[in-house]
Amino acid sequence: MKPQYWFRWFSVQGLPRLVLRTQARRGQPFAQLMGGPQGFTDPYPLIEQLRGQGRLVRTPIAWASADHELIRAILRDPRFGVRANQSFDLPAPLQRFVERYPLPPNPVEPPSMLVIDPPDHTKMRRPVAAAFTPRAIRRLRERVETVTEELLEELPSGGSADLIAAFAAQVPIAIISEMLGFPREDKGMFLAWGDAATPLLDIGISRKAHRTALDAMEVMNDYLDGHIERLRREPGEDILSSLVTAGELDTYGLKATASLLMGAGFETTVNLIGNGVVQLLSHPDQLARLRAEPELWPNAVEEVLRIDAPVQTTARSALEDVEIAGIRLRKGNTVVVSLAGANRDPGVFEDPTRFDVGRENAKDHLTFSSGVHVCLGASLARMEATYALRALFDRFPDLQLAGPPQRRKLFTLHGYEQLPVRLGTRAHTPATSAV
Ligand code: HEM
Repeated sequence: MKPQYWFRWFSVQGLPRLVLRTQARRGQPFAQLMGGPQGFTDPYPLIEQLRGQGRLVRTPIAWASADHELIRAILRDPRFGVRANQSFDLPAPLQRFVERYPLPPNPVEPPSMLVIDPPDHTKMRRPVAAAFTPRAIRRLRERVETVTEELLEELPSGGSADLIAAFAAQVPIAIISEMLGFPREDKGMFLAWGDAATPLLDIGISRKAHRTALDAMEVMNDYLDGHIERLRREPGEDILSSLVTAGELDTYGLKATASLLMGAGFETTVNLIGNGVVQLLSHPDQLARLRAEPELWPNAVEEVLRIDAPVQTTARSALEDVEIAGIRLRKGNTVVVSLAGANRDPGVFEDPTRFDVGRENAKDHLTFSSGVHVCLGASLARMEATYALRALFDRFPDLQLAGPPQRRKLFTLHGYEQLPVRLGTRAHTPATSAV
């Protein structure tokens, strides 16, 4: 490993890892949430402990909140900004070092729009946003339907499957690959790349996970160089071709944007589909209600997004001294916001642990964040998940779990890595009607 990479791991991951592990052993709920096994298996009791400590809580490495009103306010407050995916207060000399040695272009380093503030953020987001207008998403619907139907056709009627590998991961990867003009046969490579790179969203990852992620980034960087070069020669109908042709972003910016769209495009929606399957199989009464009232499917997806958020946290740093919730934060202080916690705030959601596909305000969740960084792909994710879940349960009405689903060992992204099911016999229903 290059020495600067080792030092970067030590600064950004190693130090907080040490603090989190020590504090987790002492039973500190935030440390257990971000660094202990319960953080990815069942984070919710820990989030409730955090909520019990106050609206804004000082933790060993940052401030934290699970309060809906406060989190929404912070996300929309221009006095707070994002700082390179940093979920803790890094001492200034280490911060300067980290900025001197950037990684290959990737989703969690500038100029990725996710980790920069306006006005730079606006320049990176505007050209991409044009590809995610409601009209553009409506046009993608047909592709989502075709891809979903093909995948369902390949599942073995009467047999078993791992629904993550065979279905939940495949729908979003196929769509985002097409949107970025990637050849279909490279899908497998992106799935492996995503698996390797996603731990970088967490705090305190191991040196091995860090190295694996950086290796994957180097590979992706080379791949994107070739791909962008190809699109310059022969532009297609995809988003990346339009960004290349428009010439607003340099190659580094194009690669950062492409890797962000790639990662955000499938590493989140796979969790939404997987979490949805588990919620619905665990609540047969709710599934029965959807069969009787299929118009509730879009709301059911909102309720899955609320109750088991595929992205659990994000963070903001104070750009100036700020007083909020009666607490004075100093410039540079970081607040980790638990989106999953906001979604279970009893002040906003009645009986918040109940899974209710008819919940009237399910859509008030903060799973797609809020403010200038609100998820650009939210409508696409909603559309993909709504169609995929409904079509799956229409085609395989006797679907059952065949064993305990296994959670991904990640804290920020929250979903299943394996979801073993018995499919039951395929029903010969017509393609799922409009959702
Ligand atoms: C269930 C699926 C998804 C969830 C839960 C999700 C969640 C999020 C969240 C929480 C953020 C903002 C983070 C912050 O405020 O710091 C975000 C940003 C973003 N998402 Fe998503 N996302 C999903 C799907 C997608 C899809 C399908 C795409 C694109 C194909 C996408 C593209 C983006 C982009 C480009 C940003 C950066 C926006 C910005 O910084 O201005 N997301 N997403």
